[in-house]
Amino acid sequence: MAALTNLLLVDDEPALRTLMAERLATRGFEVVTCESGERAIELLDQFAFDIVVTDLRLPGVDGGQVIDAARERYPGIVTIVITGFGTVKDAVDAIKRGASDFIAKPFQFDELMHVLHKAMEQRRLSSENAYLRAQLEERYQMGGILGRSRAMQSLFQKIETVARSNATILVTGETGTGKEVIARAIHHNSPRRAHRFVAFNSSAVPETMLEAELFGHERGAFTGAHAQRQGRFETAHRGTLFLDEVGTMSPALQSRLLRVLQEHEFERLGGNQTIKVDVRVIAATNADLRDMVAEGTFRQDLYFRLNVIQIELPPLRDRREDVPLLARHFLEKFGPGRQLQTSQAAMRAMMAYHWPGNVRQLENAIERGVALSGDRKEIELEDLPPEIQTTAPEPTVVPVDFPDDGIDMPAYLASIERDLIDRALQRTNNNRNKAADLLRIKRTTLVEKLKRMGVDR
Ligand SMILES: Nc1ncnc2c1ncn2[C@@H]1O[C@H](COP(=O)(O)OP(=O)(O)OP(=O)(O)O)[C@@H](O)[C@H]1O
Ligand SMILES: [Mg+2]
Repeated sequence: MAALTNLLLVDDEPALRTLMAERLATRGFEVVTCESGERAIELLDQFAFDIVVTDLRLPGVDGGQVIDAARERYPGIVTIVITGFGTVKDAVDAIKRGASDFIAKPFQFDELMHVLHKAMEQRRLSSENAYLRAQLEERYQMGGILGRSRAMQSLFQKIETVARSNATILVTGETGTGKEVIARAIHHNSPRRAHRFVAFNSSAVPETMLEAELFGHERGAFTGAHAQRQGRFETAHRGTLFLDEVGTMSPALQSRLLRVLQEHEFERLGGNQTIKVDVRVIAATNADLRDMVAEGTFRQDLYFRLNVIQIELPPLRDRREDVPLLARHFLEKFGPGRQLQTSQAAMRAMMAYHWPGNVRQLENAIERGVALSGDRKEIELEDLPPEIQTTAPEPTVVPVDFPDDGIDMPAYLASIERDLIDRALQRTNNNRNKAADLLRIKRTTLVEKLKRMGVDR
């Protein structure tokens, strides 16, 4: 078990909250408190707590909903509800909903400790977790793409709308964010679904073969062209053509492509018969095409043609609340039927990590974890790749001592910043690139800050 147990305490009574938080802290719990169910769910989206203790009666989102939210995200989390005196029925309902245990007000602190330890021990012994899995994936997925974050949910809506049209789409996003899965989902939700989805990656085909691959060729068009051959445009007729990594296309290919997009017709290599096609084009790139247009390496007119509708996939670090859902999906993928789960410590590390390789990197990490887990039911922190293990989980709140006469906020924030920068540089032996990575800022930003702090080697 992790050395520190992270506990979220939800209660709308400030006095009770403060008192309990202080006492829990003396018993070695790392406590975060909040006053409402709404805030509790926000915190759960950002951080994998080991335990949630929540008052049942809360204004707005109540304790039962907090328990549901916690269990839905983290099947292995320990959940305790605090009920009012004599409301046995409430307590029974909460347990039915999946709460680990309950405690009735008023209670002695030691009673709470007893309930907590009992629940944690039970949690350690059982790894029953088939909970809600099927239902969950149903609710937060679209055509195999998972996402519960607001960004992904609105993307799903957008996909449904744009799938109906024929407009060209440009999908942008860092590597591994799911650009290809989105393109496939659009095709499968479109009226073109009965026809082909043809993927073409111009960086994976030798330069000399690109045009022949895209537009086809006649027999004898070049040495080795023994027979007539259809290009991808023709194969995709009435379907969808996915142009991956469009940013890597040569200027010659760009202008050829532009013509086809404008006129919906072309000739095969070595042929003079005009071929008309009905193709919907979806392009993808992880390069910034606008920059390339500005630099003159990508045609502006082609950029406008492709970018009729833009779909931008946010990096995984900007939608951390998708991590538990994706992790569970990949656990099932790589350990089918084993009902694997991750320890909360492993989940915390995964939620704190910045995932430069996005969903693909998460998928690989889970695959590795499953392989290393042997016949255990749980992926532990140690089963994760080292770079993910060492991500120190960020505390959700920094406890600040707030003096009666106020505080110099800018100076205080500057001191925190300085401390974090010092530690990042220490940890990386003064390697500024790596330190900037650890701090999730650009190297230039770090250098600027160091200059301002008067630290310049
Ligand atoms: N939202 C998601 N739900 C489930 N699986 C996902 C999701 N996003 C990505 N994946 C999976 O992650 C992997 C990478 O996705 P994909 O190939 O679509 O990324 P990409 O953006 O095209 O990356 P690249 O720029 O490197 O080509 C695939 O195995 C894909 O199935
Ligand atoms: Mg791709």
